[in-house]
Order: sequence, then structure tokens, then C-alpha cells
Amino acid sequence: QPAPPCTIVVFGARGDLTRRLLMPSIYNLVRNGLLDDATRVIGVDHNTLSTDDWRTLLSGTLDELAADPHAEFHAGKVDPKIWKWITDRMTYLTADFDDEKTYTNLASQLDGNVVFYLAVSARFFGPVVEHLGKAGLLKEAREGGAFRRVIIEKPFGSDHASAIELNRRILSVGDESQFFRIDHFLGKDAVQSLLAMRFANRLFEPAWRAESIDHVQITAAETIGVGTRGNFYETTGALRDMVPNHLFQLLTMTGMEAPTSLDANAIRDEKTALLTATAPVRVEDVVRGQYTAGDIDGEAVKGYREEDKVAADSTTETYVALKLAIDTPRWKGVPFYLRTGKRMGGRFTEIAIHFKPEPHGLFARGSADKAQSADGGAAPNVLTVRIDPVHGAALRFNVKVPGPLSTLGEVEAAFDFDKAFGDLGTVGYESLVYECLLGDATLFQRADTIEASWAVVQPAIDLAARHAEPEPYAAGSAGPAGADALLARDGRRWTPMK
Ligand code: BG6
Repeated sequence: QPAPPCTIVVFGARGDLTRRLLMPSIYNLVRNGLLDDATRVIGVDHNTLSTDDWRTLLSGTLDELAADPHAEFHAGKVDPKIWKWITDRMTYLTADFDDEKTYTNLASQLDGNVVFYLAVSARFFGPVVEHLGKAGLLKEAREGGAFRRVIIEKPFGSDHASAIELNRRILSVGDESQFFRIDHFLGKDAVQSLLAMRFANRLFEPAWRAESIDHVQITAAETIGVGTRGNFYETTGALRDMVPNHLFQLLTMTGMEAPTSLDANAIRDEKTALLTATAPVRVEDVVRGQYTAGDIDGEAVKGYREEDKVAADSTTETYVALKLAIDTPRWKGVPFYLRTGKRMGGRFTEIAIHFKPEPHGLFARGSADKAQSADGGAAPNVLTVRIDPVHGAALRFNVKVPGPLSTLGEVEAAFDFDKAFGDLGTVGYESLVYECLLGDATLFQRADTIEASWAVVQPAIDLAARHAEPEPYAAGSAGPAGADALLARDGRRWTPMK
């Protein structure tokens, strides 16, 4: 069903995000007939461009992405009919985000439903929303009247206090229901599917708790470095960039209680409840690392301190690992270990649920194969939810190896979304844009959820603010030795790099 007619106003129209994620998503929505004929797209940015220049720029990026077999957007070839449909509805406005005139000018062009998409640097979030409010652009007509919504990119705040302050600023000119705080991990199908997996399968839910689960590992490992984003990354670091947002989406989807319904607020209530029950991380449970020169897939790469726009004595972390404790009956005594890093030895995002050893111990006593686990018994089951680059899940369990002896063998049953349902070639922003147009906030962060997230990581942010020296790790490795020690302390090990 197509979304209601709407004008999408994109602040940061010339930026990377608009070119690489937003426009390909709009293309896919049009391809699937999900946008109304009366849709319009107005791009706003400070670079002087004509509407034609903007169209040419975006069309170039789209062609590039479509031709790149590694890009998530692989349309094959951009369909000129679809692209024309979009360009016919596009206009560009060269304007200054800080200037009141920008907003009065916009006001004269806008009527009816509007979504303002803030694909801009985080320092503009507060000011742009305040300007929109002042210009009367956020006024919604009551009862079925036109909607006015704002999509805000990440990072939302840089610590607990600034997130509270930013929420206060935006909520002073609009209502919570008008703000859609993006976390693109929620646009990933494998993430959205976690609730279905947990709550639509009798097999998993009864075992999804402390009685059966030993610990949980959440990993977002990347092989890319900071590239051209040195400026942004120097003041952000791995913790702010990935943890209270992306990794916490995985944490909450894995750990939350069943919502009373699939309503956005019912789900977000449970997420907030889980984060509120998560103790602020202890400094001794945080490991910060920074990559040094090394080798990725046979190619020599620079260390972080040699990257463009990075200080030669930078203490910004490019890796962080932490251990969290959740004080709910379901999770009492079950540690959640989280890690993320750039320039690591593998690219994968996943949640690994490590089950407790089988208590009966039949095979521990009688097994002929001593190689199965440390005590010669059955290897504990592991359920891995694969988010990227494979989207799916895998369950490791034990069987008897065919033959006369009672030898245990560990096998894996795996499922892949693309194989099961076909690869949709989506970039992950399609559902975010579409659901916002429909007014469904399920895939967006609520003010209290974000604040609760920052509260959990605040001690680690304070640690970084003291310019604590991060532990070096070679590019292409599994991260700093301290991260291994964090788990070894508890007699556990990280999933190896792949
Ligand atoms: C972004 C971060 O939000 O997420 C990047 O700013 C990171 O540093 C990216 O690389 C990871 O997202 P994905 O979808 O590629 O795993």
C-alpha cells in the first residue's frame, strides 16, 4: 500500500548519507510502488547547486552503487523510468541551515504532509528543529490533518547529559510522536526478525533465560578503517559511534521481555525497561583499543594515528569491548559481552547465544571422544543470529557420529534470509522511510530509550574523556589482548574472527 502523499525535505542533500542510502531507498520504494504519486523531494544544503546539478550528482552515485556487486543496492541497472519519476519530483534549495530565511522560504513552498529528514552533522539537530518550530513548520492540524515529522540521524547526543538536553530542545517545539530518531540497525531485516524468532517459536522462548543461557556475545567487527571520516571519528570514537545505538539495538532485541503487543510504544517500553535494568558499565569491564598498522586481506594498511585528519597522539578508541550485567529475573547472572572495532580481522555482525552445558553429563562420562569440550562432554549449544554480511541464523548442536562408537559430533543448522526469501537488494533505509511516512515509530528510538542507553555507557565515556590511552591492536587482528582477558577472567572466549 503506498504511503500517504508527502513532501520529504532533506537537509544535507549533497551529503554522503543522502547519496548512498536515502536516495537508493527512495528508488526502491518507488520500484515497489510504495510512494504516492504526489510525493515531492526537496533537497536543502549549503553548497550552491542547481536542481539539475543535484539530479546529476545523485544519478551518478546511484549508477555507481547499482554497478557495484559489493553494494547492498544492486538494482542491476538503474531503471530510467523510475529515476525519471523521482527527478520529476525533485528540487534543490541552496540555503544556510542557521539562517531564519531558509525556513520562511521553505514555509512558502510547503503545504500538507511533510517529513524533514536531518541528514546533517549532529551539531545542527537542535538548531534546525528549533528553526522549524519557530517558522511554524512543525504545526500539525488536529484530527486527520497534515502531519509534520522529523527524522533525526545519529549520533543523538554525545553523552547522557547532552542527549537529555537535545531531547529537551526538540520536545520544546514539537511532540514526541513527531520525532523519528534513526538507528539504521533497526532497518535491517535480521534485526527486525529477532522478535519473531524469540516470540513466535515455542522452541526458543522457554530456553531464552538464565536457566539455560550461559552468556551472550554481541559483535560488530569491521575491516574498514576510518577512511575519510577522521574529523568525525576523532571526537566520536567506537563507543559513541556504535555502542549506545547499534549494539544496544541488538542487546534490547535479544534481552527485552515480550511486549504486550506489536505497537511501537509497547515495544519501546520493554526496550527502555531492559536498559534501565542494565547496570552502568563498570570501568574494569571496559576495554578500549586503537588499531596500529597491519594487514587486511593481504593488503598493508595504516595505523589509526597515521590516518587523514587524525592527531598523531590521538587517544580515540577504534575498538571497544564491554561486559554488561542485566538485573532482571530472566538475565540474572548472565553476562552480555559486547565488542566492536574497525580494521579487525573479519567483517561480521552477530549475536551469539551461548547455552549452558547439558547438565545430565551422559556423554561426559561415557563419550569415546574427548575432544568435544574441555571436560570431554557435549559441546554447549550456540545459537548465532547473523546480521551482516550474512543475514540469518545458525544453531550448533551435538549428534552421534555415525558408526559403532558413541562419539559426539557438533553440527550446524543454518538459515539464510536471502536464500529463503530471495535477496531484495535493499539498503536498509527503505523500511525506515516508509514506516515514518505511515507514522509507525517501531523502528525509531524514543527519547527515554536513548537516555537510558547513554546512562549505561556513561562511565566508559568518562574514562575516554580522561584521555586514557587505548590498547594498541594490529589492523587485521582480533582486537586488543585486554579484550581476550576480559572474557578469560570469566573462563570464556570470544568467537574467533572469520
Ligand atoms: C554507522 C557508523 O552508524 O554504522 C559507522 O557511523 C559504521 O562507523 C556503520 O561503519 C556500520 O553499519 P553497517 O550497517 O555497515 O554494519
